[in-house]
Amino acid sequence: MSFPVIAIDGPSASGKGTIAVRVAQKLGWAYLDSGALYRLTALLAQQEKVHWQDESAVAQLAKSLPVCFENGKIFLNQQEVTEAIRAEEIGMGASKIAALPAVRTALLQRQRDFAEISPTVADGRDMASVVFPDAVLKIFLTASAQVRAQRRAKQIGQPEHGEAFEKILADIEKRDEADCNRPVAPLVKQPDALLLDTSNMTIDEAVNQVLVWYNDKV
Ligand code: C5P
Repeated sequence: MSFPVIAIDGPSASGKGTIAVRVAQKLGWAYLDSGALYRLTALLAQQEKVHWQDESAVAQLAKSLPVCFENGKIFLNQQEVTEAIRAEEIGMGASKIAALPAVRTALLQRQRDFAEISPTVADGRDMASVVFPDAVLKIFLTASAQVRAQRRAKQIGQPEHGEAFEKILADIEKRDEADCNRPVAPLVKQPDALLLDTSNMTIDEAVNQVLVWYNDKV
């Protein structure tokens, strides 16, 4: 029997990771960062000199990803890669390999296994549509591209204007375009998902809203 899941999908830099972690902490549930699995696969392919377009070779790596999640840290082949997988280049690589059907299939069971062990808050792009269609609560969490770019700039200590900022915004828009328009598991709001636009919300407000919706369901 699987445990209950709260599925949170949304675009890049929407804050879904931060919010999902806090909701999981409040409920005492596990947290699944599905994007990390795609990022880890992209990083491993880079390390093994496997081309990101080589579907069967990348899927092979994804199938036996030597990963370990421990106290908020992520290890690949016993090496800590918590920071390394957040690099923009690896994010783009993740987006590329995430468009390959065989790679998505290879990572599917690994994601579902989380809910075999514990109630889980899962964040990603296809949590509600593909991985956990029976999730007890489905949320589509977003914010305007401008606000997401400002948050990303703040996070990495860059000014919220000028050339560097324009590049951050352009990267976010490029990744949105790729994630929303790919033929396999595109990022779309499911009809039964609740929309949470955090453009004008604090993290605490967003977390509370998710908890209110969850309490309404149970
Ligand atoms: O969420 P994050 O930015 O870490 O995800 C990195 C990339 O992995 C996304 O741009 C997306 O292409 C892909 N991804 C996905 N499905 C998920 C999670 C992430 O396709 N469930």
